[in-house]
Amino acid sequence: MFQVDHIGIAVKSLAAAKEIYQKLGLDMSPEETVEQEEVRVVMVPVGETRLELLEPTADDSVIARFLAKRGEGLHHLCLRVPDLTATVEALKRDGVRLVSDEIKIGAGGHRYIFIHAASAGGVLLELVEEH
Ligand code: CO
Repeated sequence: MFQVDHIGIAVKSLAAAKEIYQKLGLDMSPEETVEQEEVRVVMVPVGETRLELLEPTADDSVIARFLAKRGEGLHHLCLRVPDLTATVEALKRDGVRLVSDEIKIGAGGHRYIFIHAASAGGVLLELVEEH
């Protein structure tokens, strides 16, 4: 089943960004570093989805460059799909622009890929597999 897995938000400081959600009374995960993406992450569960707060750990990282260019704000939308391999094959056949050629493996072993915003109505779209 397709679902909104999470909504990625680029922030300069996790400590500052967390405050509003704490004030709202939401629980959140402990801060976690994802070396591969050069980010520190906090997940804030909201109903059936989550907010993913992303703070850069390196000045030349994707999120740092996003912040420099666009400032803090919505970075990507992540959809959970039933079969990521089949989905990615179909997207490639259709000429959809992907950020990487191959599916990547995330910190917790989850598989993901990004669809370029140019192929998705201006929204960077992350796809993860249901598990
Ligand atoms: Co994400």
